[in-house]
Amino acid sequence: MVCLGNICRSPLAHGILESMLPPDQFYVDSAGTGNYHIGSPPDHRSIKVAKKYGIDISKQQCRQFQASDFDRFDYIFVMDASNLQNVKRLARNSYDIAKIRLILNPELNGLSEVPDPYYGDDSDFEKVFHLLNDACTYISDELQELH
Ligand code: 4NP
Repeated sequence: MVCLGNICRSPLAHGILESMLPPDQFYVDSAGTGNYHIGSPPDHRSIKVAKKYGIDISKQQCRQFQASDFDRFDYIFVMDASNLQNVKRLARNSYDIAKIRLILNPELNGLSEVPDPYYGDDSDFEKVFHLLNDACTYISDELQELH
């Protein structure tokens, strides 16, 4: 799960998808394309909304996305078009590029990007939680059918 800061959106996506998949079969992680918050825990508003829905993301630690992540992961979900561009720039070949997808499916809810809630308020984090929860429900079903 990749966003810009790895403190708002991708930690939520990471925690939500992890809560839906059997831990002995799937490994979920998150990273940011930016380096501003390396080593920090998620934003307190992401921690709060996740906790409200029974998911603890407080122990996650921000890290920056690296080209070696293409070797460690089968799927790389990005939150928006800018993340997509930044991650694509680090791709080394067409196999790397084939692993990247936008996390939202516009056919499901009309949106193709998860809005950045960083400069917003609690209601923006709540909206992001629900967008990601719906997306992860779909992804979790798909992954468990495929693997
Ligand atoms: P995120 O949100 O990409 O969802 O983690 C952001 C968090 C921090 C910044 C930008 C986006 N920032 O510029 O510090």
